[in-house]
Amino acid sequence: MVKALVTGGAGFIGSNLVISLVEKGYQLTVVDDLSMGVKANLATVADQVEFHEHDVCDHEFMHSILDEDFDYIYYLAAIASVADSVERPYETHQVNQESVVDTLEYLRVKGYQPKKFLFTSSAAVYGNYPELPKREDSRVQPLTPYAVDKYASERFTIDYGDLYGLSTVAIRFFNVFGPRQNPNSPYSGVLSIVTNCLLKDQQFTLYGDGSQTRDFIYVKDIVNALIFISEATNSYGVYNIGYGKKHALLDVIRMFEEAAGKKLKIQFAEARNGDIQESLADITRLKELGFKANWGLENGLREYWEYADGKSKW
Ligand code: NAD
Ligand code: UD1
Repeated sequence: MVKALVTGGAGFIGSNLVISLVEKGYQLTVVDDLSMGVKANLATVADQVEFHEHDVCDHEFMHSILDEDFDYIYYLAAIASVADSVERPYETHQVNQESVVDTLEYLRVKGYQPKKFLFTSSAAVYGNYPELPKREDSRVQPLTPYAVDKYASERFTIDYGDLYGLSTVAIRFFNVFGPRQNPNSPYSGVLSIVTNCLLKDQQFTLYGDGSQTRDFIYVKDIVNALIFISEATNSYGVYNIGYGKKHALLDVIRMFEEAAGKKLKIQFAEARNGDIQESLADITRLKELGFKANWGLENGLREYWEYADGKSKW
């Protein structure tokens, strides 16, 4: 049986990935400290997953897990909020960089050779340089501790491939949305907060004037891309994943209101420190590998709303 480890597997993207991998018949191990993820995200596959509620920064513990010698390692555990990293730079660094390097080093020292070690990086590494769209070889400008750690960890991931022969890839997600994204922190992904406000008829705070753009991508396309890239024998280096389309935040909110049939109450506040103004992916590399997204923004928003509103099972 194919054995896979997903760190951060009780989180938003991780749990969607774990469920798809279980459906493929993989044997799954998940490590998540539940700081942001919730066990309920894995309820439908609970008896098919070996779940460890544990901190990935505990090196000894992680070494004992890695001794299971996995076919695939998907490294998603992270403190995923840019704003949180600005508040807690050192703590987030331990998770977002140190734990990744320690895992790579342990694989090297022990001579483990997973078919793929996949690290989830971020579009945040590109920063605010004006060139758009962002290609994998565009200039980077990591403006926050989160972006610095993601960039360093992806470089370690690629270098451990080049220097020591590990099969590694690093994926730069643009902005992912969809079911199971936890809305309960001020640092949660924006569309999960919008969803919560629409459901509870609460006021939404928009930081900035809403003209900031993002390349939003539905989680189902992300999961398909992660599996596709990890299984492609010729995948290597860094891949952007987005739709290759940018939308102003306010326009996406309007599209979401349309899907929900509800109006959002918005109050405007000052832009967040370190926030990125323009974001757009060049996805040529991903397309050249043979991947094609199926869902798209509007279908994704519609399906997300139906899930959130309880009209569809997930
Ligand atoms: P998430 O917060 O839902 O998932 C991260 C998971 O890691 C959570 O379940 C959390 O509990 C867990 N975690 C955090 N610290 C941990 C620790 N010390 N030990 C063990 N587990 C820990 O966020 P997500 O959106 O699912 O993000 C998954 C990955 O994708 C992250 O690496 C994130 O940086 C990256 N990413 C996400 C987006 C996005 O738009 N959501 C974009 C770019 C990159
Ligand atoms: C997001 C991800 C980050 C990822 C990056 C890649 C989360 C929490 N963050 O960061 O992991 O690496 O994409 O592009 O998943 N906003 C509001 N009101 C709110 C919350 C947010 O106006 O209540 C605004 C923000 O100021 C920002 C935009 O919405 O301009 C998007 O914010 P957010 O969802 O946190 O995403 P990013 O910061 O782009």
